[in-house]
Amino acid sequence: MPEPLAPALDRLRPLLLDTEGLVRAVASGRRRREHPDPVRAELRPVELRAGRQLQITGTDGRIPVTRNHSPQEAGAAVDELLAQPFGNWHVETRDQVVQLRVTKRGEAQVHTSAQSVEGGEAAHDRARNHLIDPADRLFTVLGADGAKRRQVDAFLRQLAPIARRVKPEGRPLRVVDLGCGNAYLTMAAHRYLAAEVDADVQTLGVDIRPEMAERNARVASEAGLEGIAFRAASIEEAAVDPEFTGVDIVLALHACDTATDDALALAVRWQARGVLAAPCCHNDVQRQLQSAESIPFAGLTRHAILRERFADVLTDTIRADLLRLLGYRVEVVEFIDSKHTPRNALIRAVHTGSAPTPRRVREYTDLVASWQVDPALAARLAPEVDAVLAAGAPE
Ligand SMILES: C[S@@+](CC[C@H](N)C(=O)[O-])C[C@H]1O[C@@H](n2cnc3c(N)ncnc32)[C@H](O)[C@@H]1O
Repeated sequence: MPEPLAPALDRLRPLLLDTEGLVRAVASGRRRREHPDPVRAELRPVELRAGRQLQITGTDGRIPVTRNHSPQEAGAAVDELLAQPFGNWHVETRDQVVQLRVTKRGEAQVHTSAQSVEGGEAAHDRARNHLIDPADRLFTVLGADGAKRRQVDAFLRQLAPIARRVKPEGRPLRVVDLGCGNAYLTMAAHRYLAAEVDADVQTLGVDIRPEMAERNARVASEAGLEGIAFRAASIEEAAVDPEFTGVDIVLALHACDTATDDALALAVRWQARGVLAAPCCHNDVQRQLQSAESIPFAGLTRHAILRERFADVLTDTIRADLLRLLGYRVEVVEFIDSKHTPRNALIRAVHTGSAPTPRRVREYTDLVASWQVDPALAARLAPEVDAVLAAGAPE
């Protein structure tokens, strides 16, 4: 039953501020004719040297901004978010999940279900077999919480076999993480590859936010990592930098929207032998589907939620097809359970140099023609894609 919104939101406040009981919370969507700023926010407790804090990551849909709030500051930060016109709140605590949806009439529809998260994240972490010990100094200096550590661990499990396969002889393994953000993955991959794949590793993290490079370099040095560097640049800028040569593996974890296409395009241009990209939002194709004049099976894109899911599938199918056409062996897998992140698909590719069959070419051309989409990755790699389509065109 719908109920008045203000008291329903008030009931969420203590759950959000209880950093012992909170597992995670997400505020998303918007109310009619209103626009929250940020457009999405995620809250979770983190264990830092300064003690347990509430971490809030807000995003404008493209660039996330993360802040850690001490118990003294957290109240004001949570009040600010509760005052924003989000359409949905999803709050998970150790013993319940509360979903609050704002109806068209501006009332709250609240659904609460019981759950049991034994002993919180710390106990969760100990029970699992980690590739990097959660107690590693790296995670302490990074301030990474259990959820991030689990994501990074899962990603490393996918990376390890590819790294073993593409490790070059006689020179260091070069890894570039594009859209590295706080560089949890960049640093963990660097440490793990050096120790476990027995490689002399050179790692570079690239992120468009200027403040990240300095912060990440400082954290890497505090963690005692050597052979790792950070650059404040867009992925497009990295493409023309003459220092970026001989890259073996390209990583991209949740690079926003078409930044994943930028990363994949660069991997192809660099002829990186290994590519691991876990895409994030897929707004580009979703927008194109929305404005297409006549597409098959219109029901697939009529409802916003279905259009969003279908755009995810279509975008990643196109990306995988294009990589295949350009000489990669490609798999698309779930790298982590969806309860940890809904963005859990991973495009995993190894360069083999095989030319595509005419059937593969036709599959791709039919797909983009049917759905009338102009894929960002194809635009970024137009000369390479045109050449391969011309060479492999069916008789
Ligand atoms: C969702 S965060 C993911 C960060 C990190 N890979 C992780 O998983 O923790 C996306 C990152 O991509 C960066 N980014 C977005 N577009 C970019 C671009 N065109 N060039 C470089 N970085 C970009 C943002 O600044 C942000 O740090």
